[in-house]
Amino acid sequence: MKIIAIYNIKGGVGKTATAVNLSYTAAAEGNKVLLVDIDPQGASTFYFNTKAVLEGGAKKVLFGQKTIEDSIRLTEFENLDILPSDSQYRKLDTFLHDMKNADKWLKKLFSPVKKNYDYVFIDCPPSITAVSENIFINADAILVPVIPTVLSIRTYAQLKAFFKEEKLDDKKLFPFYSMYERRKNMHNESILEFSKMYPECIDVAIPYNSEIEKMGEYMAPLVHKYPNAEASEVYRKLWKKLKKQI
Ligand SMILES: Nc1ncnc2c1ncn2[C@@H]1O[C@H](COP(=O)(O)OP(=O)(O)OP(=O)(O)O)[C@@H](O)[C@H]1O
Ligand SMILES: [Mg+2]
Repeated sequence: MKIIAIYNIKGGVGKTATAVNLSYTAAAEGNKVLLVDIDPQGASTFYFNTKAVLEGGAKKVLFGQKTIEDSIRLTEFENLDILPSDSQYRKLDTFLHDMKNADKWLKKLFSPVKKNYDYVFIDCPPSITAVSENIFINADAILVPVIPTVLSIRTYAQLKAFFKEEKLDDKKLFPFYSMYERRKNMHNESILEFSKMYPECIDVAIPYNSEIEKMGEYMAPLVHKYPNAEASEVYRKLWKKLKKQI
């Protein structure tokens, strides 16, 4: 079982859109997939038509005597299950702080279901917290959507600097481009610069597609609803490339 986190310090860069579409893509290929919505906003939980409540209570399930097994829900898609969001997730940092030997928290959390899944995708909230740091330690890959602008490049540099400071393994970081608009010079120039600076970049750009914004209306991943859209093709390409590297 591989753990893939979708993370960026910045908000609104396409983390949830990526988590929803990649977890669906991996499951459609026949892999057993668990999508974990660790963001209290609960966006990916909503897209999969699931109630944003962790049965059994977030503290007990994530940090106490219970295991996550009873809180996992099926989605309407084959091979794809979800561990839903919960409003208590706003307190995850406090819960983690109270825990002894918290370093391996995330790995231990998934060990009861390790045999059931090939891939776990984690839809992370923005900003650096104790929980995100724990994810950095325990995930096998951290996929970072980057909107190709000067500001986003700077944010990625900050993330790399944080990894260095905390002596974390930055070989786990896989940036790729998100919400790419071909007509914008700044996007094209930023891609050239970023790819040169960060060779770890997975060289694919999810194009801006307004149908992605409407996922909340048709309540399904874009890749399922519009399999022939260019963005769907690029999500599949991203998955193919990432899979080879982890
Ligand atoms: N490639 C895209 N083209 C057009 N719209 C997109 C694309 N990717 C994401 N969006 C839209 O942009 C908004 C932000 O995307 P998303 O929710 O995936 O970002 P996020 O990084 O998860 O945000 P947050 O930090 O708030 O969790 C959403 O309305 C989403 O539908
Ligand atoms: Mg999100």
